Amino acid sequence: MSNFTAAEPNAPLVVVEADPSVRSRLAMQLGERAIPLADLNGVEERYLDSPLLVVLGPSCSRSPGMSGAEALLAHRPDVGAILIADDLSTDLFQRAIRIGVRDVLGAPVDTGQLNEAVRRVDQTLYSALSGARSMGMPMGEDEPAEGGRVITVFSTKGGAGKSVLATNLGVILSQRSDKPVALVDADLQFGDIAVMLKLAPQHTIVDAVSSFERLDVGFLESLLATHQPSGLKVLPAPLEPAFADQIGADQMHHIIGLLRSFCSYVVVDTPAYFNEVVLGLIEDSDDVLLVAGMDIPNIKNVKIGLQTLRLLNTPMQKIHLILNRANSKVKLEVSEVERTLQVKADALIPSDIVVPQSVNKGTPVVLDAPRSAIAKSLEQLADRFAPATAGKKKGWR
Ligand SMILES: Nc1ncnc2c1ncn2[C@@H]1O[C@H](COP(=O)(O)OP(=O)(O)O)[C@@H](O)[C@H]1O
Ligand SMILES: [Mg+2]
Repeated sequence: MSNFTAAEPNAPLVVVEADPSVRSRLAMQLGERAIPLADLNGVEERYLDSPLLVVLGPSCSRSPGMSGAEALLAHRPDVGAILIADDLSTDLFQRAIRIGVRDVLGAPVDTGQLNEAVRRVDQTLYSALSGARSMGMPMGEDEPAEGGRVITVFSTKGGAGKSVLATNLGVILSQRSDKPVALVDADLQFGDIAVMLKLAPQHTIVDAVSSFERLDVGFLESLLATHQPSGLKVLPAPLEPAFADQIGADQMHHIIGLLRSFCSYVVVDTPAYFNEVVLGLIEDSDDVLLVAGMDIPNIKNVKIGLQTLRLLNTPMQKIHLILNRANSKVKLEVSEVERTLQVKADALIPSDIVVPQSVNKGTPVVLDAPRSAIAKSLEQLADRFAPATAGKKKGWR
């Protein structure tokens, strides 16, 4: 057994950067543990017998720095490298990951983010030594015996409120859960989760699939953006619609599997149509929240959606109908909708001006207007998965 504890990472840490002023700034950000070096010469000889953390400064992403790192990482799996890059292109990211760099961060790097990356890589080095999976989760008894619950939010109509629902549900579940909660933006062409949560993500799902053969829990974790107020872990959609094709159903299936291995809940937002990726997600899900707005085109589309799901032999007990804007004065009764769809609504979400207001602020309505009726209805929906207080409410578990 290793006597390593998560609170005391202790691999030696070197920071390598040719530019003296950039080097000393990075060293300062990393604290007194960091040993500043101009290049990688002699590093291997000096740290022969112990794992080593290497922070590669921006100058290293230009050759010959990169080839030096490649040579070192090729035969030293106990060296964990983090690259800071001026230009955080997908191309550079792929190159770095291929040579064995564990994480890539954009310059200028935020001190908190940098130290968090160092801590994460440090842990994987020690878990590798003690025989656990090399880039896996921090070892320990809190590794889940079975996976977390996958909840996909779907609708056959754009603008129905899928993304609003997915972000708010993710935030509430994250607040209630001790383990991480992930939100995946699987609206691959026009995903707007990052905008709705005011995140400026460093990575997207494209980075996960472009290094697919190396994708494991530790690596995937390093790609997730954290929504600070709630702790929710977000895997954003591609930045450009053209990248959507790069993500196939098999890849999505693998990503969801990795996420559920360390998260208590994986919430997935989707586009408003069926394709292979969406069908795979529905199959992988424990619950599908089918969102319908309160107008005839919405109801018509949801009816077709339900028929499609039945044809595909989707177990109906995992489909939950959510009626959004259910209080709107649109001369359509909930009972009428239920009768048309031949399904009872599991949740009614009222219409409220605070929703678009919160969307425009980039703050989910449950945080922005926690006392509003809509926030309460979203909390009630979340109760079905993770009750805020023990007892009372009937769950879907
Ligand atoms: N209950 C609601 N009350 C008021 N506005 C809502 C409500 N739900 C969604 N909206 C608004 O509708 C728009 C579309 O919602 P969104 O979640 O982006 O739909 P989808 O993801 O299904 O396309 C958003 O701008 C949001 O502000
Ligand atoms: Mg959406």
